[in-house]
Amino acid sequence: MNIQENISLKNYNTFGIDVNAKRFVSIESVYELQQLLKKEKDVFLVSGGSNMLLTSDIEKLVVHINIQGISIDKEDENHVYLTVNAGENWHDFVLWTISQDYGGIENLSLIPGNVGTCPIQNIGAYGVEVKDVITKVEAIEIESRKLVSFSNKECDFGYRNSIFKNEAKGKYIITSVSFQLTKKNHQLNTYYGAIETELASKNITNPTIKDVSDAVIAIRQSKLPDPKEIGNSGSFFKNPVISQKHFNKLQEEYSDIPSYKVSETEVKVPAGWLIEKSGFKGKRFGDYGVHEKQALVLVNYGNASGKEIYQLAQKIQRTIKEKFGIDLEIEVNVI
Ligand code: EPU
Repeated sequence: MNIQENISLKNYNTFGIDVNAKRFVSIESVYELQQLLKKEKDVFLVSGGSNMLLTSDIEKLVVHINIQGISIDKEDENHVYLTVNAGENWHDFVLWTISQDYGGIENLSLIPGNVGTCPIQNIGAYGVEVKDVITKVEAIEIESRKLVSFSNKECDFGYRNSIFKNEAKGKYIITSVSFQLTKKNHQLNTYYGAIETELASKNITNPTIKDVSDAVIAIRQSKLPDPKEIGNSGSFFKNPVISQKHFNKLQEEYSDIPSYKVSETEVKVPAGWLIEKSGFKGKRFGDYGVHEKQALVLVNYGNASGKEIYQLAQKIQRTIKEKFGIDLEIEVNVI
């Protein structure tokens, strides 16, 4: 275990924000983590760094969770049960499942980040959320250094939400995630408009999981910036849920406002649409701005600071509140 000093975190967050870690250590096993926690309890975790906006230097010991490995726990005729260590790259894992013809996460192709953080915000895209395939999450409880297990139910998953963003926040370090995937009779989710259009454009009528994954990759590449080229953290805000009454009032003024039904009394409105309607889409201020193809994504064109991006986010929140009376909630962790 090698604790380094004064390390830039630029390569450890997909926003590419250049802040300094006073002390930094990369951890490659559960045992190493337990040993470290004997001496250091007040730690700051980074994994894939895909859901954080760093606004200042980190004084705490930065712990990079880099525990690798995939294992097959059991198989039956229809399913395979896998445990994947936290440091595995999410998209590489998705591609591997497709190469093995294991179905269930093809719609979640190309989401940045690592496996260990996928349960925290319950990553989701194109009609699938990771909660649909997670059977168990294992984590080290920081205080006791014990390995504990959370069942799917105990994770208390919701839209971009879980126990790890609430009661369990800051108390655990996720070390592995277990999944149940299909080996045959894959349940494809292709009803999402853009996927249907993409498959039709290739004349695919009977898609495989690989076809769906390829379609999702093509859609994401056409709309979302690649963090390797332009720093970003995916959707910066959550899509807000508002009352049907509030929505009906907005619809009188904005007849084209999109919505998804949540319940008899509530609807979800795409934050991207609200931000675009407020004139922010594609706006660039110095080295940061709002992505030109998806207004929900804030971007760092090179050397922006986390503070600048956070200020822009707050400006967007104020504008949306004034114009639509809607509170936009930030989805990424602002540190
Ligand atoms: N829209 C606009 N302008 C924009 C962006 C979107 O008007 O700049 C409108 C679109 O026309 C469409 C609607 O908003 O009517 C929805 O757009 P899209 O399908 O792109 O999805 P989204 O609601 O903006 C969510 C997730 C994404 C996920 C996509 C696809 C959240 C916060 N975001 O975005 O997740 O990839 O659906 O399922 O729920 C992420 O979390 O990082 C992420 C990228």
